[in-house]
Amino acid sequence: MERKAGNMKDVKIEQRIDALLSRMTLEEKAGQLHQAGGSLVGAFDMTIGDIFTMVEDGRMTREEAHKLLSESKRDWQEEDLRAGRIGSYIGITSAEEMNRLQHIAVEESRLGIPVFNGFDVIHGFRTITPIPLAESCAWEPALWERTARMSAEEASSAGIHMTFSPMVDVSKDPRWGRIAESAGEEALLNGLYGEAKVKGYQTEDLTRHDALAACVKHFAAYGAAEGGRDYNRVDMSPQRLEEEYLPSYERAVKAGAWAVMPAFNDISGVPCSVNRKLLTDILRRRWGFEGMTISDANAIAECINHGIAADRQDAARQALNAGMDMDMTSGCFLENLKTLVENGAVSVETLDEAVRHVLRLKFALGLFDDPYRSSAAQERAAMLTPAHRALAREAAQKSMVLLKNEGVLPLEKHMCVGLAGKLAFDGDEMSGTWAGFVKPGDCVSLSDAMHGASIAFVPVTEDMLPECDVFLCAVGEHKEESGEAASRARLELNETDLALLRRLRESGRPVIAVVFAGRPLCLGPVVEAADAILMAWHPGVEAGNAILDLLYGRVNPSAKLTAGFPVTTGQCPTLYYDHIMTGRPAGKFKFTSKYLDSPVEPLFPFGFGLSYTSFHYSDISAVQTEDGIHAEISVDNAGDWAGDEIVQCYFRDPVARRVRPVRKLAAFSKITLQPGESRRLSFEIPFQMLGYYDQDMHFCVDDGQIEIFIGGNVWDTEKADVILTRGE
Ligand code: GLC
Repeated sequence: MERKAGNMKDVKIEQRIDALLSRMTLEEKAGQLHQAGGSLVGAFDMTIGDIFTMVEDGRMTREEAHKLLSESKRDWQEEDLRAGRIGSYIGITSAEEMNRLQHIAVEESRLGIPVFNGFDVIHGFRTITPIPLAESCAWEPALWERTARMSAEEASSAGIHMTFSPMVDVSKDPRWGRIAESAGEEALLNGLYGEAKVKGYQTEDLTRHDALAACVKHFAAYGAAEGGRDYNRVDMSPQRLEEEYLPSYERAVKAGAWAVMPAFNDISGVPCSVNRKLLTDILRRRWGFEGMTISDANAIAECINHGIAADRQDAARQALNAGMDMDMTSGCFLENLKTLVENGAVSVETLDEAVRHVLRLKFALGLFDDPYRSSAAQERAAMLTPAHRALAREAAQKSMVLLKNEGVLPLEKHMCVGLAGKLAFDGDEMSGTWAGFVKPGDCVSLSDAMHGASIAFVPVTEDMLPECDVFLCAVGEHKEESGEAASRARLELNETDLALLRRLRESGRPVIAVVFAGRPLCLGPVVEAADAILMAWHPGVEAGNAILDLLYGRVNPSAKLTAGFPVTTGQCPTLYYDHIMTGRPAGKFKFTSKYLDSPVEPLFPFGFGLSYTSFHYSDISAVQTEDGIHAEISVDNAGDWAGDEIVQCYFRDPVARRVRPVRKLAAFSKITLQPGESRRLSFEIPFQMLGYYDQDMHFCVDDGQIEIFIGGNVWDTEKADVILTRGE
């Protein structure tokens, strides 16, 4: 049965929860709300946080830390588990280990309540697919659901019950490293991405052994961190929060996600972890969410740093009273909830409600009736299968964006290639951030793929430019430069890459740049040096094969950007496409809104991407209907290649009670057209989508002119006007 927000309750299960609650002590209730991580045992007693600090201050290399974290035995605090002080785990990645610990919980604790185990399955578990920002460029919900299904099959076989995914944070600032984990700068795409992932992870029956509970994060507006600096403040109007940020979480929650993770950041001064307006008024009362909220790592304790809590007990009190159910690893709930109830700072009803949400999730997962989910044999059988690799390759083909092609692509197999750039030879860099459980050697590098396809190539070395027909040059970011705690104040390529590009340009031979990154970068020098540019992102285990599929024309590129690319870093954070006009829109006249030393337009706009064919748009029309606006357009494939085109439909409300964006994505359609084929497409834009909040927070839809734009990217469009007359 598909469970959506507002109908997660099953009468019989609620009765079983009541019965259990009536038997639980205060300690056991506090224990149910505590998520434990596996602390390190062996050579020394230190926390995982200590290790990160040692890497930061240079006392340990990243490689040493990775080795330590991946090889050290973990202490899963069995005694606490036996005593009912642990409600869930984070980070177990073996069916055997999970079953061993589950046995203690179910057979050796007083009430036999099973635990659930969460892990960051963000873009694959062992079969790593393209990072979310890349996959979002496919504009294909069906694909997003399929890769989520694959991730769930692999992760569930390794003893994982919940993934801390999908992340649907609208990300308009590429300085923020976590843009890599998002579906870019548009709420509609992030919402559709989240909805598809929830369905793919959970299926319609969460008790299935290959299902994962989804956890929508980071609620809310984490992507608006000031300055693109991770964990920094978020300060915005309630109108902007409602119009541009909350919709992506709402769609993912209403798809039936069983968990929601509040964000580290504050919103206008109130940290999300203790933000009752967010966690109770909006999430539960307005959206009808009946699942479980789980804090981000240590986030409850960090409310002390925020300056909103006096100490750990105060943080626990505020978080629980705001609507936080599960405490991820801080220990504040476990240490303090009994005392808080006894001194009346937290009511037993509030505590019970939080425990109920946790137990409801565990019943929904089927863990009470079927606590042991997988075995080592099933685990081995599920990982990195040929079918999974094939899907990862398809996702990568559909994620890579062709940004430039001055007649040099597709390549021909007989051509001799000069292969340049360290990233072309390093498969492990292809996995990108949050690469779950990938193993060294899992990822196919560009050079591996060329070997595999028997394509002749000669490496470009420091001091030698080989004889060749064309240069293939890999530039961009290492995976450590992307993701959490990886904000950048400069988005230009590093000097090594820039010097290499210049050297290849001076050879006079064709240069094709393949850019690996977890974010939009300033690619101006790449545009100058290269005849063709493929934005490959961090594409996962099938990186090299997918790149060759596109460069040699086995697949026609179709991906389109879901975040604009800057000319200069200084354009951030005003680079996003759905900006407002201002009273003095940028123009030639001095006194207009622009920079002295940079354009205001992006280098590559939202929705942009090239193909080996060309698509022409004509005969746009738009009329008002009973429910909104009906728009139509004709699209022709005017080239020699069959190809997929992502047709985008935008609108603008040119006169409103608050200033409105110059463009807003309303709908899109991905179609396949044979050479010479033409298609008439239609789009329905409901009135709700045209609406916005006025100065007094009243939701309104205006009568009057609405401009409709349809085309192959946000600025390359046909235009039609509609005059709405709804008489309201
Ligand atoms: C991290 C991230 C969050 C992740 C969690 C567990 O700090 O903010 O996205 O799910 O901790 O790893």
